[in-house]
Amino acid sequence: MAVLALYGGTPVRADEFAVWPVCDRQEEEALIEVLRGKKWWRFAFGQGVELIEPKEGERSQVALFQEEFARYHECKYGIAAANGTGTLEIGIRAMNLGIGDEIIVPAYTYIASAACVLQNNCIPIFIVIDPNTYNIDPGRIEEAITDRTRAIMVVHFGGQPADMDRILTIAGKHNLPVIEDAAHAHGCEWKKQKAGSFGLFSSFSFQASKNMTSGEGGILCSNDQGFASECDSLLWSGRKVGRPWYEFYRLGWNYRMTEFQAAILRQQLTRLDKQIRHRERLAHYLSKKLNSIDGISPLIQDERTTLHGYHIYMFRYDESVIGLKREKFIEALTAEGIPAASGYSFPLYKNPMFINKKFINGSFPLGTQYHDDIDYSSFEEKCPVSELACNSQAVWLPQNIFLGNERDMDDVALAVEKVLENKKDLAAWREKS
Ligand SMILES: Cc1ncc(COP(=O)(O)O)c(C=O)c1O
Repeated sequence: MAVLALYGGTPVRADEFAVWPVCDRQEEEALIEVLRGKKWWRFAFGQGVELIEPKEGERSQVALFQEEFARYHECKYGIAAANGTGTLEIGIRAMNLGIGDEIIVPAYTYIASAACVLQNNCIPIFIVIDPNTYNIDPGRIEEAITDRTRAIMVVHFGGQPADMDRILTIAGKHNLPVIEDAAHAHGCEWKKQKAGSFGLFSSFSFQASKNMTSGEGGILCSNDQGFASECDSLLWSGRKVGRPWYEFYRLGWNYRMTEFQAAILRQQLTRLDKQIRHRERLAHYLSKKLNSIDGISPLIQDERTTLHGYHIYMFRYDESVIGLKREKFIEALTAEGIPAASGYSFPLYKNPMFINKKFINGSFPLGTQYHDDIDYSSFEEKCPVSELACNSQAVWLPQNIFLGNERDMDDVALAVEKVLENKKDLAAWREKS
């Protein structure tokens, strides 16, 4: 039995995996062009708010990126922004909801998916996830719909689209719009249709870890022209296209994307398709190997997910089968050179702000009469799959390692096997220390 790296043995993997972000001369040249052009924001081109005719051949990188990204995602309109938290907030503001209205949100997600609801004085209602995909469980949505429900949000978690067939049916039956948090799902497909093109609007993130990045950034996509222009205005401090710069029509934000970000993202978009397909191929290769290990089960790719971005590759670790705590397993696996993590340390609704219901200026969504109706600690019972995923089951691998080759995947599987071969010693050793 090989000695674990944790005990001073040789790690399975000493070399670095594929480095993220991927960038080269394409990004360098695009950035230099913007730098030398001295027009570093979209307003310099007069687009968006004051429609000054651009000079022949001279267009804003932001405007071009919006068109290119939206078209690629089968949407008519794209509104680029500073980050994906902002695009979610703006989209919900543009829905004109009332204080205390409810939005259904999956219980396994990042804070932004719920914060955008609260920032608009609405209430997130968490729904249990499907154990096979960690996406919202459509079978549990209807029981949470009340007369205050105004929308269903899906998160295409880790790059796998949620079950859009069932969700659109439920949404249609109850006449509710669907919001797609597609922060993880650039270029992904459900039955050959792009994630982000199904709902009233979708929101993507370009934060540093995402499958397309400019360090920070986001975009909102929609097929509804009126809705898109409302969002455009909200992002430009509440101005109106075609009206003078000092006229503000609604309470907005400054969440504008810079020309530098857009110049990088236009180049990143040219690599997206090839990278997704590469990641997916290697993820399938790894899943085949991991599926043969007792107690390890990669999440299932639904056959209707025709393109999975594997922004996060996840497998379920069964402590009761393996007999070793997940945290110990991850510590040993990391020492073998595999960048594994346990993901969210507890479900979102267990964060202090939910437990204490301290959101806006110390109060529950501003002025709401529904303060006593919601007890976020009750979601522990309602969302057992999210509890299990956070507490002991989920193991995450980052997207960059799937940009390498099959030998990299062999190393991941080998390291998992090595750690599990040593599980008895590991359990005993850690108990002693
Ligand atoms: C599921 C989800 N939604 C929204 C966001 C927000 O994106 P950003 O970091 O660009 O604000 C993230 C970011 O990590 C995310 O993981």
